[in-house]
Amino acid sequence: MKKTLLSALGMLLFGTTAVAANPADAAADQLAYQVSQIPGPGKFPRALFTDYSIGEVAYQLEREPKDFYPQIELRNHPTLKEFNTVRYHNYRDWTSGFLPGSLWLAYELTGRDDMRRAATELTNQLLPVSYMKDTHDLGFMVNCSYGNALRLAPSDSIKAVIVRTADNLISRFDPKVGVIRSWDFGPWNYPVIIDNMMNLELLFNASRLTGDSKYRDIALKHADKTLKCHFRPDFTSYHVVSYTPDGSIESRGTFQGKADESAWSRGQGWALYGYTECYRESGRKEYLEQARHIADMIMERNVTEDLIPYWDLDARNEPTTPRDASAGALYAAAMIELSTMLPEKEGKKYLDYAEKILAALASPQYTAEQGTNGGFILKHSTGSLPHGSEIDTPLNYADYYYLEALVRLDRVKKGLPATSWDKIKK
Ligand code: GLY
Repeated sequence: MKKTLLSALGMLLFGTTAVAANPADAAADQLAYQVSQIPGPGKFPRALFTDYSIGEVAYQLEREPKDFYPQIELRNHPTLKEFNTVRYHNYRDWTSGFLPGSLWLAYELTGRDDMRRAATELTNQLLPVSYMKDTHDLGFMVNCSYGNALRLAPSDSIKAVIVRTADNLISRFDPKVGVIRSWDFGPWNYPVIIDNMMNLELLFNASRLTGDSKYRDIALKHADKTLKCHFRPDFTSYHVVSYTPDGSIESRGTFQGKADESAWSRGQGWALYGYTECYRESGRKEYLEQARHIADMIMERNVTEDLIPYWDLDARNEPTTPRDASAGALYAAAMIELSTMLPEKEGKKYLDYAEKILAALASPQYTAEQGTNGGFILKHSTGSLPHGSEIDTPLNYADYYYLEALVRLDRVKKGLPATSWDKIKK
């Protein structure tokens, strides 16, 4: 993207306020700093170790600490030494694709060669992911990294990685149950989480690359069954639905939200983004209707002034309640695309909402000063509050969906389709 357009985007987001930097350049500078801090190959920054207490978790859950502690494991609680340092993971972590992906998106926004070089290097480190079969997160891990590489710097070796990964992902589809299995751990028989809608993009891309519709067919079967089983009548989504071997519902609940019947904020974002994408890929009206219902539900139930949601849409409406900037970024990315699928008058409210979210994220309240925040772009996300994990911290996926929303907004303002996945060809 040319400088003049970047500046226009900056003006759009910041209006005439004193914030000078345009968000894409500022993000690329921050990512360059983050990459320079990585201690060695195979380490992927995920979050900062941020302090939190059992008392805070209990207050947010509106439960007594004795009711859930020590049953829940306070995973990744920072030691004094770790406090405010970067939490690194290896390639097996579900978030490993996000930094490579953010670098690709920053390259797309700025054309900077350092972004492309870092993106290529970190993407290549994820090759072993394409052989994994024990997780559904393969779409997050490989589509955000190799998928974006394929859009922006195509090569035959990338194609092979995408197709091999997609084969491994569909090996987790049981036709009797009718959905792709999410987790291989926990008390459930066959758990599927709403997050799994995000892994379908990899399958759509594999069908584009091979001309074989089997990946796409499985993606749409997964979307159909999830539409029937994951949603409450008010269009909020459960987080986890477990199925019996014959495909009927075993249980429904919410693992990372406030309560089984609450609307976990990021889960609603996965759902909105997922059905928007499925409509783009299939043209099936029921997906568009679902996406609109979810978007309307979010707009009604997200009560914060700046539109960056609390960690759960049913969380306490109080100034100290942790936010989830990652959910805000997801809402923005999805709503920008949704706005293009409707007549201009109907789509405008979603575009306006997304722009308001982006203006908040690009402000100093959420965007970190360069060289701080472990090199993450955004502050104030929440990973899994009920597990005492990653509360009010930067998260690499908040950065990814923020940059994706910036790319989408730029494209839409230029009259282009919000996404360019259709660039991927056989
Ligand atoms: N996919 C895991 C999460 O949203 O935290």
